[in-house]
Amino acid sequence: MQTITQKFNVEEVRKDFPILQREVNGKRLVYLDNGATAQKPQSVIDSLNNYYTQENANIHRGVHTLSQEATSAYEEARVQMREFLNAQHTEEIIFTKGTTDGINLVASSFGRFNLKEGDEILITAMEHHSNIVPWQMICEEKGAKLKVAPINDQGELILDELYDLITERTKLVAIVHISNTLGTVNPVKEIIAKAHEKGAKVLVDGAQSAPHMQVDVRDLDADFYVFSMHKVFGPTGVGILYGKKEILESLPPYQGGGDMIKTVTFEKTTYNELPHKFEAGTPNIADGIATKAALDYLQQFSWDEIHNHEMELLEYATKRLKTIEGLRIIGEAKEKASVISFVIDGVHAYDLGVLVDKMGVAVRTGHHCTQPLMERFGILGTVRASFAFYNTKEEIDVLVNAIERAKNMLI
Ligand code: ALA
Repeated sequence: MQTITQKFNVEEVRKDFPILQREVNGKRLVYLDNGATAQKPQSVIDSLNNYYTQENANIHRGVHTLSQEATSAYEEARVQMREFLNAQHTEEIIFTKGTTDGINLVASSFGRFNLKEGDEILITAMEHHSNIVPWQMICEEKGAKLKVAPINDQGELILDELYDLITERTKLVAIVHISNTLGTVNPVKEIIAKAHEKGAKVLVDGAQSAPHMQVDVRDLDADFYVFSMHKVFGPTGVGILYGKKEILESLPPYQGGGDMIKTVTFEKTTYNELPHKFEAGTPNIADGIATKAALDYLQQFSWDEIHNHEMELLEYATKRLKTIEGLRIIGEAKEKASVISFVIDGVHAYDLGVLVDKMGVAVRTGHHCTQPLMERFGILGTVRASFAFYNTKEEIDVLVNAIERAKNMLI
């Protein structure tokens, strides 16, 4: 749901992010590692400060005022998240530690409950380790098979081959919405429809899509959708698992402890209702509450404004980077988000990353937790610039100049 109250103006937007004003190594920070984590607006920082100075108390447990206030704030954040994702029910929103935690929850609970020997889980060649390893672990435990859908040289899924890999044995398709390394935007709505035709459920890894596009879980018809708030301009250590109510209700809990129970005796425990069944122990209260501040902030703008700005950055950066001799972009899908991975002949990604940091530019280097994808392209790693809506073309110019200078020092 969008409440548009402010026209998008990047210079004004930047003022809301205190860290963007700082210097690194004597230069104005140019932060281009938003794929790893995004910066936080002042309102998110204020929310965290307010919780610890005014509201700190445990939730769902106390009759006293502080506990009531903290519980209300936490549950309001959940309601707002339901609206943000257009989920049907508030109890379909489970607070987690982040994307990895959400996938592990589903692998453990759904996997243990549904998988048997000979069943299959389908992932793709562009998955993050978080969407590979939990499935490997549960497949090994249950004697199920992990299958991998291939990609082409542009970094796009080969859809016909992916669809052929979905069989009546496929229990779940676990697929990334936007690749953290390539920037490829996958047609998840279409893939979900095909998987459903064969009776498979679908988990969408939304770690890179939630910050860049409107996500409507009902329109997608996703069975599970997971992401981390720290990439959506919110705090670290908190994430969201959306799951369809009837599926979540059918699944066993992931962890046991406080809050997830109805009654406990030494003989038998009965479990709490959704969403608490999947939220054992004292949750990350301060950060959960601050997710509301992050969504409030984001919802001042329309997704169209954010998308248009980010697409301008992508186009400009792609054009400018391609002027650098020896630079090759890894991932040139037709549908791309504002993420550019590249390699330069004769230059190690790590060395380039260290040198451009000396010039104030933060990029990520390495395999980006996608080692099988690196192998697919026959490389060890890339340099990755990932843009958020607060980045500017001037910052891209600084990046390009920094790369040219670093390259001259290294070759
Ligand atoms: N998955 C995050 C990234 O791509 C950490 O950088």
